[in-house]
Amino acid sequence: MRLRRKPEAKKILSEHPLVFTATEENKSEFQGRWRELFPEPAQPLHVELGTGKGQFLAKTSGLHPEINWIGVERIEEPLLMAVRKGEATKNPNLRYIWADVQWLDEIFAPGEVDRFYLHFSDPWPKKRHTKRRLTYRTFLERYEKLLAPGGDLILKTDSVSLFDFSLEEFQEAGWETIELSRDLHHSPYASANITTEYEDKFVSRGMPIHYVRVRPGRKGSADPGE
Ligand SMILES: C[S@@+](CC[C@H](N)C(=O)[O-])C[C@H]1O[C@@H](n2cnc3c(N)ncnc32)[C@H](O)[C@@H]1O
Repeated sequence: MRLRRKPEAKKILSEHPLVFTATEENKSEFQGRWRELFPEPAQPLHVELGTGKGQFLAKTSGLHPEINWIGVERIEEPLLMAVRKGEATKNPNLRYIWADVQWLDEIFAPGEVDRFYLHFSDPWPKKRHTKRRLTYRTFLERYEKLLAPGGDLILKTDSVSLFDFSLEEFQEAGWETIELSRDLHHSPYASANITTEYEDKFVSRGMPIHYVRVRPGRKGSADPGE
């Protein structure tokens, strides 16, 4: 994502009431307590990883006030744009975390998140960068630990190679596929879909959007017959 460096972005974000700036020292400050930051703490918690400029969160938080929403983004310039969009909505169910997804299991507690979204994550096409892909097995282990029972993950991408790689990783990790389409905008899931900035760009070029909803397998279930 290429944006002109805004030197003031760091300062604005670190002081912004909607943003938690994670550092090595404080990253676990709200672990297990994220819901308490919202006016309706009993609501489910949905987390978008790699929020970018934040169109999805600004829209979905208004359309789904019954959910508490958090966006995680590591680069300050797009995050500031996302936060500006979010604050303009005045939706009370929306927060942002300035952090790298690498820190996810120190930021959230086991079982704290009901759904993760990976929207147009960087595909890292070179083989030597495989471990950076946000669906690499070590990331799936983190997501599995942090998801509540019955929790799930939604992935959308334009990248066939990232999509195929991700399906293999999900399968290898024993995750269950609940919904899948290689052309989301011409599928039964289109009516519920809320687009992101990258998605709008790819759709305007006529590119199909790949979509999957998955959830971790029931490892360690008390009843193996379940
Ligand atoms: C290609 S953009 C997509 C942005 C947005 N989700 C969309 O669909 O329009 C990917 C975003 O993920 C962020 N990102 C990539 N890796 C990340 C990581 N490890 N931790 C946090 N953010 C990350 C990037 O900084 C970038 O803003």
